[in-house]
Amino acid sequence: MSINIPRGTQDILPGEVELWQRIEKKARELCEKYQYQEIRTPIFEHTDLFSRGVGDTTDIVQKEMYTFEDRGGRSITLRPEGTASTVRAFVEKKMFGLPGQPVKLYYMGPMFRYERPQSGRFRQFVQFGVEALGSNDPAIDAEVISLAMNLYKEMGLSKLKLIINSLGDKESRNTHREALINHFKPRIGEFCSDCQNRLEKNPLRILDCKQDRDHELMKTAPSIIDYLNEESKAYFGKVQQYLTHLNIEFEVDPNLVRGLDYYNHTAFEIMSNAEGFGAITTLCGGGRYNGLVEEIGGPETPGIGFALSIERFIAALKAEGIEMEINQGIDCYLAALGEEAKDYTVGLLQQLRLAGFSAERDYLNRKIKAQFKAADRLQARYVAVLGDDELKNNKINVKNMETGEQVEVELDSLVNYFQGLKA
Ligand code: HAM
Repeated sequence: MSINIPRGTQDILPGEVELWQRIEKKARELCEKYQYQEIRTPIFEHTDLFSRGVGDTTDIVQKEMYTFEDRGGRSITLRPEGTASTVRAFVEKKMFGLPGQPVKLYYMGPMFRYERPQSGRFRQFVQFGVEALGSNDPAIDAEVISLAMNLYKEMGLSKLKLIINSLGDKESRNTHREALINHFKPRIGEFCSDCQNRLEKNPLRILDCKQDRDHELMKTAPSIIDYLNEESKAYFGKVQQYLTHLNIEFEVDPNLVRGLDYYNHTAFEIMSNAEGFGAITTLCGGGRYNGLVEEIGGPETPGIGFALSIERFIAALKAEGIEMEINQGIDCYLAALGEEAKDYTVGLLQQLRLAGFSAERDYLNRKIKAQFKAADRLQARYVAVLGDDELKNNKINVKNMETGEQVEVELDSLVNYFQGLKA
């Protein structure tokens, strides 16, 4: 019996992986420009990190984590997201004491959530995310948002919608929390058991419930926007002002609460409104999390960031019909005729590669015609043909595959010849 790939995961094969690499490269380049540095944290962490960080009333922690006991009896969880791990490292490695503040980090790697797989929703997916720790300046909120928007735009996406909201500071959230409890309490019996548990613990999560999403009380629930205190309103106003200044269009959506517990002040999502993108339209989500560093045991430190998955990024590119030329071709294919010539190409191939050229030879003992076919498949710009006779005369025949032109080159100066072509 054959063994299949686990549900909700995928193999990314040659031919597809180039687009992934292109996006990853663009993300790294942009981070360099925006001055975010890469951090690599473990794929698994102590489960407590996520219960505390992401929040134990969230769907992620309650239903979606890959948690297991290791052989030492510790509860371990495959990371469902990158913010908690980044903040853990920030605290543990005392990055708050570094001279360069704020600390601006990015990460790229697989995350794991036991969700119901569907288009755009995987159980293993790759997130690219950034986190800026240590600044309370609303300009950095705008910077983080603009980084995500620019990454999408530079890859050619145009059908994007940015929605933002403010979840306010602690005081605003507390007054809103009371209002939510009063709103839901009389009829909480009509809600799912999760929501019933959430009522006192974290009523904001009720607004994010997938099961009770159509209940009429959801539509009339008090909106956080009406509970923002003056300070929170002013902060939100500044973020909007900066976004406008950066020519980034946005919509304020007071219902945007996000699915993780650590947020306050700015929350945002970027959606694709390309036709045919599918039911899940969120490409990217993020926001401010001013209490999280303390929650994980560090000093009071503000933070903001976002994460996006490469899977949804690629789906959005497809939905907008954006195709990229990914096959670059190779510089040279070494075709050989005869045993000695074949032996010789082993070293010659190495010389070309070490000199910086992409080069390939035959490994299937093909006839010369089939070697040319292989060269075509690889989109070789040149094919250098070596026969036993040429080898004796220290010659090699180089064919330009675009023009058909052929030249005879001294065998031991083949590398120089190619260097000359590049110059
Ligand atoms: P999140 O909204 O849970 O936020 O996830 C962010 C993004 O990850 C989503 O917008 C989506 O692109 C992608 N994503 C999430 N789940 C899946 C899935 N099952 N399959 C494919 N893609 C998925 C966070 O993770 C926060 N840590 C973001 C953040 C960073 N906030 C502040 N800093």
